[in-house]
Amino acid sequence: MQTLPIQLNTARRDINFIIGHSLWEPLRQFLHRQYPHHSLFVICDETVGALYGEAAREQLASHPGWKALLSFPAGESSKSREHKDALEDQLLARRAGRDSVLVAIGGGVTGDLAGYVAATLHRGIPLIHLPTTLLAQVDSSIGGKVGINHPAGKNLLGAFYQPAAIYADINFLHSLPDDEYFNGLAEVIKYAVIMDDELWGWLERDSEGIIRRENALLERIVSRCAQLKIRVVQADEKEAEYRSILNFGHTVGHAIEQLSRYRLKHGYAIAAGMQIAARLSRTHLGYPEERVRGLNRLLEVYQLNRTPLQDFSFEEVWECLQSDKKSRRQSPRFTLMNGENKPELFYPIEKAELEDAFSAT
Ligand SMILES: NC(=O)c1ccc[n+]([C@@H]2O[C@H](COP(=O)([O-])OP(=O)(O)OC[C@H]3O[C@@H](n4cnc5c(N)ncnc54)[C@H](O)[C@@H]3O)[C@@H](O)[C@H]2O)c1
Repeated sequence: MQTLPIQLNTARRDINFIIGHSLWEPLRQFLHRQYPHHSLFVICDETVGALYGEAAREQLASHPGWKALLSFPAGESSKSREHKDALEDQLLARRAGRDSVLVAIGGGVTGDLAGYVAATLHRGIPLIHLPTTLLAQVDSSIGGKVGINHPAGKNLLGAFYQPAAIYADINFLHSLPDDEYFNGLAEVIKYAVIMDDELWGWLERDSEGIIRRENALLERIVSRCAQLKIRVVQADEKEAEYRSILNFGHTVGHAIEQLSRYRLKHGYAIAAGMQIAARLSRTHLGYPEERVRGLNRLLEVYQLNRTPLQDFSFEEVWECLQSDKKSRRQSPRFTLMNGENKPELFYPIEKAELEDAFSAT
């Protein structure tokens, strides 16, 4: 078990990111120690509930304040006002007060939804994340962004709300369907591209073991990515500027994710977005051709190079980018890589240039 402290100006104490195997017991002890008199609620989606609900009850029901495990249907469409309302109604019906603590067990959808409930119930109750997808362990559980979608767009309602702790148990990753696992690996590849050559080396050298989900490799990768995300969040908690380095591949990625009405998973969308961003980086900033090819190889090895870009019309993608939060004066802004393998933020790209990169992918 390894503990990575997250030190934030806005938090009264360090938030610990704990990584390891079989973390129920350390979590139980933490709850007994920090919240002995709180009432305790667990929130998960129905898929995670079917897999781990029993274990959660067995492990946590000995807490003196144990109340209930609440669940909602799995999937992005549950990140909605309707499901937020339903959870709040259930919590309040069970007399959840300011002295309640909420444990969110699941992927990014659960973390975002339950996190937003925790952020607003009684103006904020303690929240603990147990991320169960690779994406949630390396990305969404860290940094305090919580929220839900609105019919007008993704993540339009939300808050920055830091958890009290994050328990990333590697054992959860073994029950993930393959496509969910590879989906998370897209974010891992992104960290390698923007900040970490050593991680890139592991992804190349140890691909067979990573695909087999060998525990030692999983732990090494989750730990490294968590450290990278923590470093970025500590430097720029509210995404004033530096945190935008994490948007590499996300400009076009978000657009095609949205155009597919979220049938295309996030990781597969940003994989295509990274290929486009790498190409733009080469033509505009001298990013080495060898790196562009290396990225394409990694995406191929991890089965992330099958995003059907031809299903999207460039005009639709361009139109979608006009409404992107990151666009200024009609030019979408990209995070690109320069010739020294360093990210450049908010790089403006013209329509014809993007169309070239889009058609070449
Ligand atoms: N807050 C942030 O900083 C941040 C960052 C990135 C992404 N996100 C959000 O995260 C969401 C995507 O997260 P996700 O990819 O984890 O999706 P998800 O939460 O929907 O999980 C994917 C699927 O895997 C299932 N699942 C979860 N854990 C499992 C396990 N251990 N075994 C078997 N099945 C399991 C879930 O039930 C679901 O069907 C998006 O809504 C995105 O906006 C948030």
